[in-house]
Amino acid sequence: MKHLVSIADLSRDDAIKILDTAERLDALTEQGAKKLPTLRGRTVVNLFYEDSTRTRLSFELAAKRLSADVITFSAKGSSVSKGESLKDTALTLQAMGADAVVVRHNASGAAHQLAHTGWIDAGIINAGDGTHEHPTQALLDAYTLRDALTKDRGEALGAGLDGITVGIVGDVLHSRVARSNIRLLHKLGAHVVVIGPPTLMPVGIDKWPCEVRYDIDGALPSLDAIMMLRVQQERMNGSFFPSSEEYSRMFGLNRSRAARLPQHAIVLHPGPMNRGMEITAEVADSHRSVITQQVANGVTVRMAVLYLLVGGDSVD
Ligand code: CP
Repeated sequence: MKHLVSIADLSRDDAIKILDTAERLDALTEQGAKKLPTLRGRTVVNLFYEDSTRTRLSFELAAKRLSADVITFSAKGSSVSKGESLKDTALTLQAMGADAVVVRHNASGAAHQLAHTGWIDAGIINAGDGTHEHPTQALLDAYTLRDALTKDRGEALGAGLDGITVGIVGDVLHSRVARSNIRLLHKLGAHVVVIGPPTLMPVGIDKWPCEVRYDIDGALPSLDAIMMLRVQQERMNGSFFPSSEEYSRMFGLNRSRAARLPQHAIVLHPGPMNRGMEITAEVADSHRSVITQQVANGVTVRMAVLYLLVGGDSVD
């Protein structure tokens, strides 16, 4: 595998190999190996045309922990603001010898274009393109789910997420996180229940590998995990629900809804959160929440992706 643009680029075995590699890297970190020499002499470019906190910082940290040289490029403050095209930016990175380019772009398909036009030889990793996909977010979510829910079944290495039920709730229409998660969770054997108002469901979702529901309350007792999606008001150019209060009342995760989840169920959110809208602060900060673990796991999983794409085969 040279690029990671979409979950479709991964077989089930590829995805499990990434999770297993992350688990081994985690173990090495716990043994005190804060920095590995694997990518010494390699250059990783973070090419961010859209704002990011978690993804940009975690890719930067992941590349540094693997001893790569890291360049972080924000479109704001670059020659993009003078009208430079994606192609000319790619040719510039090619001339500088980039080995991997981590790209976030507001246009769905930008990562695919970089990977498949021949402008640049580097491995391309999609860090979120428009409303299309965010594959490393789905991988870190799968890692978090496996760590929290399946380790007690025995050895997690080599395992998928067979038999668990995950609810994904909210603004599915605008969510690249939901698209990548539905595909990956299905590939790993989980049952996915997508929940939200009909206005925030994509056309054709009935053909996706998931169950679709329009009420949250009936689904809660069957969920092993619930993933709340951010309501992406910046991508909305119309009215998708009557008001924020109405949305929270119908689909928000609050204390009384969380109490109807099974005792072992966990709460995820990819961030950034609209506290008080799709999730209350009380639930986001509760013992069920694994939101900060998701962020920590993001570093390890992105190390694994860089390791496998740029550095080599497996950590033994
Ligand atoms: N989850 C996620 O992509 O967060 P950022 O936008 O902060 O990178």
